[in-house]
Amino acid sequence: MQLFRASIAHFPKHTSDFENDIVVYQDGGLLIDGQRIVAIGTFNAISAQHPNANVIDHSGKWILPGLIDSHLHYPQTQSIANYGEQLLSWLENYTFPTEMQFADSDHASVIANVFIRQLLKNGTTTGLVFSTVHKDSCEALFHASSDINMAMIAGKVCMDRNCPTSLQDTAEQAQKDCASLIEKWHNKGRNKYALTPRFAPTSTEAQLAALGELAKQYDDVFIQTHLSENLDEIAWVKSLFPQAEGYLDVYDKFDLVRERAVFGHGIHLTPNEWARLGDANATIAFCPTSNLFLGSGLFDMTAARANNVHVALATDVGAGTTFNMLKTYGDAYKVSQLRNAPISPLEGFYLMTQGAANAHGLDGEIGNLNAGTVADFVVVEPRFDELTSLRIQPEASFDDVFFALSILGDDRAIAQTWVSGECRYRNTLLQ
Ligand code: GUN
Ligand code: ZN
Repeated sequence: MQLFRASIAHFPKHTSDFENDIVVYQDGGLLIDGQRIVAIGTFNAISAQHPNANVIDHSGKWILPGLIDSHLHYPQTQSIANYGEQLLSWLENYTFPTEMQFADSDHASVIANVFIRQLLKNGTTTGLVFSTVHKDSCEALFHASSDINMAMIAGKVCMDRNCPTSLQDTAEQAQKDCASLIEKWHNKGRNKYALTPRFAPTSTEAQLAALGELAKQYDDVFIQTHLSENLDEIAWVKSLFPQAEGYLDVYDKFDLVRERAVFGHGIHLTPNEWARLGDANATIAFCPTSNLFLGSGLFDMTAARANNVHVALATDVGAGTTFNMLKTYGDAYKVSQLRNAPISPLEGFYLMTQGAANAHGLDGEIGNLNAGTVADFVVVEPRFDELTSLRIQPEASFDDVFFALSILGDDRAIAQTWVSGECRYRNTLLQ
């Protein structure tokens, strides 16, 4: 058994009262045995109960639950940071050409492994991930996640219109490929499958209907797509689906609005759509760096709270500009300042740990450091350079540390990332 000594913060409860639910141990102990956490508390209490445990001393650092990135695209790892477009032309000019390269499954494997290294370097231990339309691109990611026993939620993109023909499947082929991927990967090891229609404009009604049937047949799979990100996109959806009441209704008509449905963005939603998302127990992935980068708009967290809609933070790489969830909260904070309703550091931390796990129904496994959960955690060095050592005092409160790192930090603050009880990333500059 290994006993880690560090400052520790997490939300052990399964409620959403993040301001009161936070638990901090300034001198904490986290005991792991194999893949699981077996105890958490003050270092003195845990070491007294387990005097023979092997102590690993990270005093001065923080241990946090592994971070959850609830929406991103692994093929776009190689097309991050492309200049000058909004959503629809960005897809045409940068994204689709990049995704065509994934017809080559060797290329997919290479990028899947680069992608996972980037997640780990940034302290992210679970992602909800889009692959490309190619079935093998999804397989490549699941193979890479399985190699390190990482909790990955992913799916093959489905598109049968309004994109280059080489990136199109059909309603029937998508249904067949998704069913076979579900049988092969869903709940195999720590992997889970997500039905992944890219967004309404690139699927016919027949394809959405086929995916809706699968969502009923396999009712514990995830659904991930995009929703109301950009005004031109919304106008396009209206012209393609004139009989629908709005963008969300397109998905709703095909039984794709339910719990474990995670909609990227949701920036320009109507009051009815907000209410429907809350009733359906669905989730919005808030992707601030992407929304700023593509000029999509400012997410309305106040409306999400008022309608009891689950929100989870996400990078949306490659429209997102970083893999780092600390920085992602930093931009969420700035967006919320422009909306005059700042998102507190505790809420930000919640939205990338327990709040995300709770939205996804996975808080028995990930998102917190409770005994019995899987040992996915991150070791953070707040004082990683001259400026952070000046700004962040050794005895600083968790809120202050987390906030300062969201503005000043990035992967340089991530000392180690542990997945299923194994150290899978070590920052050699900090040892
Ligand atoms: N809408 C449809 N596809 C995409 C994508 O790849 N990225 C983003 N940000 N929005 C989308
Ligand atoms: Zn996206």
